[in-house]
Amino acid sequence: MNETLGSIYERSSVRKYKSEKVPENDLREILKAGFCAANGMNRQAIEFAVMENAGSIFKYSRKIISKLAEEARHSGNSNPIINRMAEDPAADIFYGAPAVIFVFAGQNAITPVEDGSLAVGNMMLAAHSMGYGTCFIGFAAGLGHDTEFLEECGVPAGHRYVACMIIGKPDGNIEKHPRSDVKIIKWIK
Ligand SMILES: Cc1cc2nc3c(=O)[nH]c(=O)nc-3n(C[C@H](O)[C@H](O)[C@H](O)COP(=O)(O)O)c2cc1C
Repeated sequence: MNETLGSIYERSSVRKYKSEKVPENDLREILKAGFCAANGMNRQAIEFAVMENAGSIFKYSRKIISKLAEEARHSGNSNPIINRMAEDPAADIFYGAPAVIFVFAGQNAITPVEDGSLAVGNMMLAAHSMGYGTCFIGFAAGLGHDTEFLEECGVPAGHRYVACMIIGKPDGNIEKHPRSDVKIIKWIK
């Protein structure tokens, strides 16, 4: 099996990290791999914010957990995962990862969600091939409307929040989450 296929099949979301920092050169390489992803009409509209400050990371995690718990209470749709996180002061949507990469799309993007998602896919595989673990954090999406967060990250007005990925050295064995057989609806020949 070639190395690329190896990374694709071996990668798995990591939810436990060592506290050691990811060297800046490695982060830059991984961001470059993200930026090199296919993107609508090659507008190159994807931009990144990297957060390594543990205090900031945990602050926004708690903010999101409170917000999600509040929204669940209001809507009457109680979510056990969110309730558990809200009751546990140590719960962290970013799993203690030493770095969090937020993906934004500039106003010139014609396919912002697709561009940002492909960038994350590239970054996950690049990171895996370099010995890092990653996980997409959909729970963080509410930060796209958080003024304090957008200001702290220096996100220009009009940019769209697209995605969030954590990264770091895995702590312990990486659990593999297997897939079923490929689902092909029809193959018309
Ligand atoms: C759009 C998206 C949002 C996700 N959000 C979260 C999240 O908030 N927290 C989390 O622990 N995992 C999250 N994940 C990771 C998935 O749970 C994970 O990819 C899936 O269970 C398959 O496992 P694998 O990545 O190890 O193959 C997300 C994945 C995607 C694609």
